[in-house]
Amino acid sequence: MKLSITFDRLRQEEKWLVLEAKKLGCTTELVDVKNLFFDVTGKKPKNGFGDIVLQRCISYYRSLFLTRILENFGVRVINTSKVSEVCGNKLITSMMLAKAGILTPKTYVSLSSESVTEAAEALGYPVVMKPFVGSWGRMISLAKDPQTLGTIVELKESLANPIEHMYYLQEFVERPPRDIRAIVVGGEIVASVYRNAGGDEWRTNVARGATTSAFKPDKELTEIVLKAAELVGGGILGVDAMESKEGYMIHEVNNTVEFKGAQAASKDKIAKKIVEYVIRSAKQ
Ligand SMILES: Nc1ncnc2c1ncn2[C@@H]1O[C@H](COP(=O)(O)OP(=O)(O)O)[C@@H](O)[C@H]1O
Ligand SMILES: [Mg+2]
Repeated sequence: MKLSITFDRLRQEEKWLVLEAKKLGCTTELVDVKNLFFDVTGKKPKNGFGDIVLQRCISYYRSLFLTRILENFGVRVINTSKVSEVCGNKLITSMMLAKAGILTPKTYVSLSSESVTEAAEALGYPVVMKPFVGSWGRMISLAKDPQTLGTIVELKESLANPIEHMYYLQEFVERPPRDIRAIVVGGEIVASVYRNAGGDEWRTNVARGATTSAFKPDKELTEIVLKAAELVGGGILGVDAMESKEGYMIHEVNNTVEFKGAQAASKDKIAKKIVEYVIRSAKQ
Protein backbone atom coordinates (compact mmCIF):
# COMPACT_ATOMS: atom_id res chain seq x y z
CA MET A 1 0.00 0.00 0.00
CA LYS A 2 1.35 3.42 -0.95
CA LEU A 3 0.14 6.51 0.82
CA SER A 4 0.97 10.07 -0.22
CA ILE A 5 0.70 12.87 2.31
CA THR A 6 0.39 16.22 0.57
CA PHE A 7 1.38 19.38 2.43
CA ASP A 8 2.31 23.02 1.94
CA ARG A 9 3.92 23.52 5.34
CA LEU A 10 5.36 20.64 7.31
CA ARG A 11 4.06 20.57 10.87
CA GLN A 12 4.56 18.16 13.74
CA GLU A 13 1.30 16.46 12.73
CA GLU A 14 2.60 15.44 9.30
CA LYS A 15 5.77 14.05 10.88
CA TRP A 16 3.68 11.93 13.27
CA LEU A 17 1.51 10.75 10.40
CA VAL A 18 4.51 9.59 8.37
CA LEU A 19 5.94 7.79 11.39
CA GLU A 20 2.68 5.94 12.07
CA ALA A 21 2.19 5.10 8.37
CA LYS A 22 5.64 3.56 8.21
CA LYS A 23 4.96 1.59 11.40
CA LEU A 24 1.77 0.28 9.81
CA GLY A 25 3.74 -0.93 6.82
CA CYS A 26 2.80 1.72 4.24
CA THR A 27 5.18 3.04 1.65
CA THR A 28 4.78 6.71 2.42
CA GLU A 29 5.67 9.79 0.46
CA LEU A 30 5.54 13.32 1.81
CA VAL A 31 4.71 15.58 -1.11
CA ASP A 32 5.38 19.31 -0.96
CA VAL A 33 2.67 20.51 -3.34
CA LYS A 34 4.34 23.89 -3.82
CA ASN A 35 6.80 22.11 -6.13
CA LEU A 36 4.11 20.61 -8.37
CA PHE A 37 2.28 21.67 -11.50
CA PHE A 38 -0.31 19.71 -13.42
CA ASP A 39 -1.50 19.26 -16.97
CA VAL A 40 -5.13 19.44 -15.93
CA THR A 41 -6.35 18.68 -19.46
CA GLY A 42 -4.21 15.54 -19.59
CA LYS A 43 -5.12 12.01 -18.57
CA LYS A 44 -2.74 11.35 -15.68
CA PRO A 45 -0.63 13.31 -13.23
CA LYS A 46 3.11 13.17 -13.85
CA ASN A 47 3.75 11.97 -10.33
CA GLY A 48 2.15 8.79 -9.08
CA PHE A 49 0.23 9.39 -5.89
CA GLY A 50 -0.10 5.76 -4.82
CA ASP A 51 -3.27 4.15 -3.57
CA ILE A 52 -4.59 7.09 -1.62
CA VAL A 53 -3.74 10.68 -0.72
CA LEU A 54 -4.03 12.20 2.72
CA GLN A 55 -4.51 15.90 2.09
CA ARG A 56 -2.76 18.10 4.68
CA CYS A 57 -2.38 21.49 2.96
CA ILE A 58 -3.08 24.45 5.23
CA SER A 59 -4.23 26.86 2.53
CA TYR A 60 -7.94 26.44 1.82
CA TYR A 61 -7.75 27.22 -1.88
CA ARG A 62 -4.60 25.18 -2.46
CA SER A 63 -6.11 22.20 -0.65
CA LEU A 64 -9.40 22.48 -2.52
CA PHE A 65 -7.79 22.94 -5.95
CA LEU A 66 -5.32 20.10 -5.47
CA THR A 67 -8.06 17.75 -4.26
CA ARG A 68 -10.22 18.67 -7.25
CA ILE A 69 -7.30 18.05 -9.64
CA LEU A 70 -6.41 14.68 -8.09
CA GLU A 71 -10.02 13.55 -7.97
CA ASN A 72 -10.33 14.47 -11.64
CA PHE A 73 -7.44 12.10 -12.36
CA GLY A 74 -9.25 9.38 -10.42
CA VAL A 75 -7.00 9.55 -7.34
CA ARG A 76 -8.68 8.91 -3.96
CA VAL A 77 -8.19 11.83 -1.58
CA ILE A 78 -9.10 12.16 2.09
CA ASN A 79 -10.93 14.39 2.77
CA THR A 80 -12.91 14.74 -0.43
CA SER A 81 -13.25 18.07 -2.24
CA LYS A 82 -16.89 18.24 -1.19
CA VAL A 83 -15.87 18.14 2.48
CA SER A 84 -13.06 20.61 1.86
CA GLU A 85 -15.43 23.08 0.20
CA VAL A 86 -18.09 22.91 2.90
CA CYS A 87 -15.73 23.09 5.87
CA GLY A 88 -13.44 25.74 4.43
CA ASN A 89 -16.23 28.22 3.94
CA LYS A 90 -17.94 29.44 7.10
CA LEU A 91 -21.00 30.66 5.19
CA ILE A 92 -21.70 27.21 3.72
CA THR A 93 -20.99 25.46 7.05
CA SER A 94 -23.37 27.70 9.01
CA MET A 95 -26.19 27.25 6.52
CA MET A 96 -25.77 23.48 6.43
CA LEU A 97 -25.62 23.08 10.21
CA ALA A 98 -28.73 25.21 10.73
CA LYS A 99 -30.69 23.44 8.02
CA ALA A 100 -29.87 20.06 9.56
CA GLY A 101 -31.23 21.23 12.90
CA ILE A 102 -27.81 21.29 14.58
CA LEU A 103 -27.57 24.09 17.14
CA THR A 104 -25.18 26.73 15.76
CA PRO A 105 -24.66 30.44 16.55
CA LYS A 106 -27.12 32.81 14.88
CA THR A 107 -25.35 34.17 11.80
CA TYR A 108 -26.10 37.12 9.54
CA VAL A 109 -24.37 37.78 6.25
CA SER A 110 -24.28 41.21 4.71
CA LEU A 111 -23.28 41.53 1.05
CA SER A 112 -21.90 45.06 1.31
CA SER A 113 -20.80 47.68 3.81
CA GLU A 114 -24.10 49.47 3.14
CA SER A 115 -26.09 46.91 5.12
CA VAL A 116 -23.56 45.76 7.70
CA THR A 117 -24.47 48.30 10.41
CA GLU A 118 -28.14 47.40 10.12
CA ALA A 119 -27.30 43.69 10.21
CA ALA A 120 -25.26 44.13 13.42
CA GLU A 121 -28.05 46.18 14.97
CA ALA A 122 -30.57 43.44 14.15
CA LEU A 123 -28.27 40.75 15.55
CA GLY A 124 -27.48 42.75 18.68
CA TYR A 125 -24.12 43.73 20.19
CA PRO A 126 -21.57 42.39 20.90
CA VAL A 127 -21.14 40.81 17.46
CA VAL A 128 -18.43 38.45 16.30
CA MET A 129 -17.12 39.18 12.81
CA LYS A 130 -15.31 36.41 10.93
CA PRO A 131 -13.65 36.05 7.56
CA PHE A 132 -15.56 33.63 5.32
CA VAL A 133 -12.37 31.62 4.85
CA GLY A 134 -9.74 31.35 7.56
CA SER A 135 -8.51 29.54 10.63
CA TRP A 136 -6.48 29.85 13.86
CA GLY A 137 -8.91 32.55 15.00
CA ARG A 138 -7.15 34.93 12.62
CA MET A 139 -9.00 38.16 11.82
CA ILE A 140 -11.93 37.16 14.02
CA SER A 141 -13.02 40.25 15.88
CA LEU A 142 -15.43 41.09 18.63
CA ALA A 143 -17.27 44.37 18.05
CA LYS A 144 -18.85 45.51 21.29
CA ASP A 145 -20.46 48.63 19.81
CA PRO A 146 -21.25 50.33 16.46
CA GLN A 147 -18.07 52.45 16.72
CA THR A 148 -15.81 49.40 16.87
CA LEU A 149 -17.76 47.72 14.10
CA GLY A 150 -17.39 50.86 11.96
CA THR A 151 -13.62 50.83 12.36
CA ILE A 152 -13.36 47.15 11.39
CA VAL A 153 -15.56 47.75 8.34
CA GLU A 154 -13.45 50.76 7.32
CA LEU A 155 -10.34 48.62 7.50
CA LYS A 156 -11.88 45.77 5.53
CA GLU A 157 -13.15 48.16 2.85
CA SER A 158 -9.57 49.33 2.30
CA LEU A 159 -8.48 45.79 1.40
CA ALA A 160 -8.30 44.81 -2.27
CA ASN A 161 -9.89 41.36 -2.13
CA PRO A 162 -13.65 41.66 -2.87
CA ILE A 163 -14.43 38.88 -0.37
CA GLU A 164 -13.44 41.39 2.35
CA HIS A 165 -16.31 43.64 1.27
CA MET A 166 -18.91 41.16 2.45
CA TYR A 167 -19.55 40.47 6.10
CA TYR A 168 -20.13 37.39 8.23
CA LEU A 169 -21.58 38.37 11.60
CA GLN A 170 -22.42 36.12 14.49
CA GLU A 171 -24.08 36.46 17.86
CA PHE A 172 -21.54 36.35 20.67
CA VAL A 173 -22.29 33.10 22.47
CA GLU A 174 -22.06 33.28 26.25
CA ARG A 175 -19.96 30.31 27.30
CA PRO A 176 -17.24 29.42 29.77
CA PRO A 177 -13.77 30.70 28.74
CA ARG A 178 -13.22 27.53 26.74
CA ASP A 179 -14.60 25.59 23.82
CA ILE A 180 -14.51 21.97 22.73
CA ARG A 181 -12.50 20.35 19.97
CA ALA A 182 -13.58 16.84 19.04
CA ILE A 183 -11.51 14.94 16.53
CA VAL A 184 -13.61 12.63 14.43
CA VAL A 185 -12.05 9.92 12.30
CA GLY A 186 -14.34 7.78 10.15
CA GLY A 187 -17.46 8.34 12.27
CA GLU A 188 -15.73 7.89 15.63
CA ILE A 189 -14.57 10.50 18.15
CA VAL A 190 -10.90 9.65 18.70
CA ALA A 191 -10.11 12.58 21.02
CA SER A 192 -12.02 15.35 22.73
CA VAL A 193 -10.47 18.25 24.56
CA TYR A 194 -11.43 21.51 26.18
CA ARG A 195 -9.45 24.41 24.77
CA ASN A 196 -9.01 26.84 27.62
CA ALA A 197 -8.46 30.44 26.52
CA GLY A 198 -4.99 31.74 27.23
CA GLY A 199 -4.42 35.04 29.11
CA ASP A 200 -6.74 37.89 28.06
CA GLU A 201 -7.65 36.19 24.81
CA TRP A 202 -11.35 35.43 24.21
CA ARG A 203 -10.73 33.16 21.21
CA THR A 204 -9.88 29.62 22.24
CA ASN A 205 -7.69 28.50 19.35
CA VAL A 206 -4.50 26.67 20.31
CA ALA A 207 -2.81 29.02 17.81
CA ARG A 208 -3.94 31.87 20.14
CA GLY A 209 -2.40 30.33 23.24
CA ALA A 210 -5.23 28.10 24.46
CA THR A 211 -4.26 25.10 26.58
CA THR A 212 -5.94 21.73 26.17
CA SER A 213 -7.35 19.23 28.64
CA ALA A 214 -8.94 15.92 27.72
CA PHE A 215 -12.44 14.94 28.79
CA LYS A 216 -14.96 12.26 27.96
CA PRO A 217 -17.84 13.56 25.83
CA ASP A 218 -21.35 12.85 27.13
CA LYS A 219 -24.13 11.36 25.01
CA GLU A 220 -25.54 14.72 23.89
CA LEU A 221 -22.15 16.00 22.70
CA THR A 222 -21.24 12.72 21.02
CA GLU A 223 -24.49 12.76 19.08
CA ILE A 224 -24.23 16.34 17.86
CA VAL A 225 -20.52 16.03 16.96
CA LEU A 226 -21.02 12.84 14.94
CA LYS A 227 -24.10 14.30 13.26
CA ALA A 228 -22.14 17.41 12.20
CA ALA A 229 -19.24 15.29 10.92
CA GLU A 230 -21.54 13.11 8.87
CA LEU A 231 -23.42 16.12 7.55
CA VAL A 232 -20.33 17.68 5.97
CA GLY A 233 -19.40 14.40 4.32
CA GLY A 234 -17.33 12.56 6.95
CA GLY A 235 -13.63 11.67 6.93
CA ILE A 236 -11.05 13.21 9.23
CA LEU A 237 -12.48 16.25 10.94
CA GLY A 238 -12.11 18.63 13.86
CA VAL A 239 -15.52 19.58 15.20
CA ASP A 240 -15.59 22.74 17.34
CA ALA A 241 -18.36 23.19 19.88
CA MET A 242 -19.30 25.70 22.56
CA GLU A 243 -21.18 25.11 25.79
CA SER A 244 -24.00 27.60 25.35
CA LYS A 245 -26.93 28.13 27.72
CA GLU A 246 -29.16 26.27 25.26
CA GLY A 247 -26.83 23.27 24.99
CA TYR A 248 -23.87 22.31 22.82
CA MET A 249 -23.49 24.56 19.81
CA ILE A 250 -21.35 23.62 16.83
CA HIS A 251 -19.59 26.65 15.37
CA GLU A 252 -17.11 25.05 13.01
CA VAL A 253 -16.03 21.81 11.36
CA ASN A 254 -12.36 21.79 10.35
CA ASN A 255 -11.22 19.95 7.27
CA THR A 256 -7.45 19.64 7.69
CA VAL A 257 -7.48 19.20 11.40
CA GLU A 258 -4.52 20.19 13.55
CA PHE A 259 -4.21 17.88 16.53
CA LYS A 260 -1.01 18.84 18.30
CA GLY A 261 -2.99 20.44 21.13
CA ALA A 262 -5.42 17.52 21.38
CA GLN A 263 -2.55 15.01 21.24
CA ALA A 264 -0.82 16.74 24.17
CA ALA A 265 -3.87 16.04 26.32
CA SER A 266 -4.83 12.67 24.99
CA LYS A 267 -3.58 9.12 25.65
CA ASP A 268 -4.50 7.58 22.33
CA LYS A 269 -2.33 8.22 19.33
CA ILE A 270 -4.44 10.37 17.04
CA ALA A 271 -2.04 10.04 14.09
CA LYS A 272 -2.27 6.24 14.30
CA LYS A 273 -6.08 6.34 14.22
CA ILE A 274 -5.94 8.62 11.20
CA VAL A 275 -3.55 6.42 9.24
CA GLU A 276 -5.54 3.28 10.13
CA TYR A 277 -8.64 4.96 8.75
CA VAL A 278 -6.85 6.02 5.55
CA ILE A 279 -5.62 2.44 5.01
CA ARG A 280 -9.13 1.10 5.65
CA SER A 281 -10.56 3.57 3.13
CA ALA A 282 -7.98 2.68 0.47
CA LYS A 283 -8.95 -0.98 0.74
CA GLN A 284 -12.67 -0.32 0.29
N1 LIG B 1 -20.10 33.20 18.08
C1 LIG B 1 -19.12 33.08 18.94
N2 LIG B 1 -19.27 33.41 20.25
C2 LIG B 1 -18.25 33.30 21.13
N3 LIG B 1 -17.02 32.88 20.80
C3 LIG B 1 -16.79 32.54 19.52
C4 LIG B 1 -17.83 32.60 18.53
N4 LIG B 1 -17.33 32.20 17.35
C5 LIG B 1 -16.05 31.90 17.57
N5 LIG B 1 -15.71 32.09 18.86
C6 LIG B 1 -14.37 31.88 19.43
O1 LIG B 1 -13.40 32.13 18.41
C7 LIG B 1 -12.69 30.92 18.08
C8 LIG B 1 -12.44 30.84 16.59
O2 LIG B 1 -13.64 30.78 15.88
P1 LIG B 1 -13.89 29.76 14.69
O3 LIG B 1 -15.24 30.04 14.13
O4 LIG B 1 -13.65 28.38 15.17
O5 LIG B 1 -12.80 30.20 13.60
P2 LIG B 1 -11.36 29.63 13.20
O6 LIG B 1 -11.61 28.93 11.91
O7 LIG B 1 -10.48 30.81 13.01
O8 LIG B 1 -10.92 28.69 14.29
C9 LIG B 1 -13.56 29.80 18.62
O9 LIG B 1 -12.81 28.66 18.89
C10 LIG B 1 -14.18 30.44 19.86
O10 LIG B 1 -13.28 30.43 20.94
MG1 LIG C 1 -12.06 26.95 14.95
